[in-house]
Amino acid sequence: MKDSIALSGAPYTARAAAQPQTRPIVTTWLYTVAVMVALMVVVGGYVRLSRSGLSIVEWNAITGVVPPLTAQAWQEEFAKYQQSPEYQKVNAGMSLDEYKSIFYVEYVHRLIARLVGLVLALPLAYFLLRGFIPWRQSGVYIGIGALFLFQAFMGWFMVASGLVDRPSVSHYRLTAHLLTALALLALCLWTALNHTYRITPAQPGVRVRLASLGLVLTAVVLLQITYGGLTAGLKAGHVSNTWPLMFGYLVPPGLLALIEPWWRNLVDSLATVQFIHRWLAFVVLTLAYVVYRRAAGDDSLRSARTGAATLVAIVSVQILLGISVVLFDVTLPLALLHQATAITLFAAAIFLNHRLIPAPPGGGRAPPSTPALSSPGEGGTASPRYGEETSLSSTPDPSPLRGTGRGRGDESLSSPLRVRRGEGGTRASPQPPTPFSSPRYGEEKGGDRAASRGFSSRRRGKGHQPPTPRTEREGGAAPGDRTSVKGISPCRR
Ligand code: HEM
Repeated sequence: MKDSIALSGAPYTARAAAQPQTRPIVTTWLYTVAVMVALMVVVGGYVRLSRSGLSIVEWNAITGVVPPLTAQAWQEEFAKYQQSPEYQKVNAGMSLDEYKSIFYVEYVHRLIARLVGLVLALPLAYFLLRGFIPWRQSGVYIGIGALFLFQAFMGWFMVASGLVDRPSVSHYRLTAHLLTALALLALCLWTALNHTYRITPAQPGVRVRLASLGLVLTAVVLLQITYGGLTAGLKAGHVSNTWPLMFGYLVPPGLLALIEPWWRNLVDSLATVQFIHRWLAFVVLTLAYVVYRRAAGDDSLRSARTGAATLVAIVSVQILLGISVVLFDVTLPLALLHQATAITLFAAAIFLNHRLIPAPPGGGRAPPSTPALSSPGEGGTASPRYGEETSLSSTPDPSPLRGTGRGRGDESLSSPLRVRRGEGGTRASPQPPTPFSSPRYGEEKGGDRAASRGFSSRRRGKGHQPPTPRTEREGGAAPGDRTSVKGISPCRR
């Protein structure tokens, strides 16, 4: 077995094969948490865009679950809000009913956050205690729990920045809150993908370069999302509402001379931040296209190619949405869709990398099945090539661990089939069972518009049915510009 794996340059050893494995329900839970985190980001976007985020000025993890129930309780809550900079500088004179409408948006946001916390923590504790997650693999799961707690802290840390002196949150903290959510999403998704796909061992050469390129692409996507967060946090989307020209220029003059020192323009200047964000998108698009072209040239990287093609499509839609957000001056539905698409794009980038990056030895991914008895595949070896995969959740699986007390659908149990798609079609070959935010916006000079605004089921047949051969396709000053160059605003210092 070892020799056979070695044929494909495998990092897998008996060590990987001997790893205790995780149950499918854990994988489902990880995907559920990932989706909930993504939805939370969109809900957070709605809270920000509807200017509701600073309506509740305290954070009570337990008592905050119950909203004010009496007229007196509402008056007390409203009185606290009236002390906040947002009420005094932006919403002065707001009625109690108007206050209630923004209160409830933030209230529901916090309620959903608590729900995500429960959906994360309770099953996690159960899985650990029941041994569904082997203790030696528990590090990443405890990391997910810790990251969620950190994200909750970052949420409050961000809100706290908007409760003193100024009526909006720090654009740095808003961006950090967004990036922490993405880290949580990435960790859940990557771990779930590890359980879902069987990755065959890494092969050197061109695929390593492609995997590196995939990583560079993801880094640039993250940088672009970071600039999206800064653009949103600074409310820089309002600074110029024309495209492709900004203030009548393709490249407005003095973008690095608006504030001192020059480098602060990169993160604090409304015009510079929006300018970077609008054009970095095309670097993302180009890189995604290059990855797609390279993956397209390798027949064994079908799912990576599909992932890269999906990425190119999503980036294209995202660019059109971004341009619309600028042209329509950040209307809520468009801005929200733009945010949701950014999360989808990030998830697609994680998927792509997962298809490209080889797992480390014993890295927790389901190891390849024994290649020795499989029919020779692409590349002339019996073992699977890097990049090929099968979904563990859809293959019948009689296991040698049957009867060991492991649950139905245990991912440690590899399919009896090596399913792969050969040139021109699909084929399956039998396998033996193996174990297996200016100045901030609003404070710029020039009186521009921005300044006026102030942001199968896995049927193992219980292990007794004979394997049925099946095949599976692999994962398968321009007109309309509301500002002028003079209106390019510096930011708050
Ligand atoms: C790869 C492409 C892009 C990605 C991944 C991306 C991502 C993002 C993200 C994550 C945000 C922050 C959302 C929030 O935290 O609420 C954002 C905001 C924004 N983006 Fe993009 N963006 C892309 C392309 C563009 C383009 C091409 C433009 C304009 C030409 C644009 C204009 C904006 C504007 C104006 C905002 C601020 C919206 C607001 O205040 O809510 N984006 N973007």
